[in-house]
Amino acid sequence: MDNGRIDQIIDKYDGKESSVIQVLLEIQRENRWLPGEVLERVSEKLRVPLSRIQQIVTFYKAFSLSPKGRHEIHVCMGTACHVRGAPRVLDTVQDLTGIKPGETSPDLKFSLKTVNCVGCCALGPVVVIDGEYHGKMVPATSEDVLKNYE
Ligand code: FES
Repeated sequence: MDNGRIDQIIDKYDGKESSVIQVLLEIQRENRWLPGEVLERVSEKLRVPLSRIQQIVTFYKAFSLSPKGRHEIHVCMGTACHVRGAPRVLDTVQDLTGIKPGETSPDLKFSLKTVNCVGCCALGPVVVIDGEYHGKMVPATSEDVLKNYE
């Protein structure tokens, strides 16, 4: 994200120091993560110490300090999904994307995470991609599901 765009977002909030969280959230939404130089720019423009900004972005889970893929895959590894074969689904997703949980693919297409229960155990194994639920997953359907995401 370039400085011009960061400044536009800051200007929307009249450059007020008190808007720091809203500014960071908006940048996060648009850029999907917060690089160090972005934090420095926000610090400088809003006159908020960088140390304070770092406290904020490490405290709130909504912020990411590392690159995120365009699509976020969450594979449920809760008990109900686990006993129905989630580990095999996870293995397949890892093979197809080339990444492990906690990682982002080098082309920034996918980020992968495991979660413990997403609240629809009867549909297990469940994989959630960008908030969309895919139930009764098996290794063979993983490829069909993933190829819908560009
Ligand atoms: S354990 Fe996977 S949805 Fe509940």
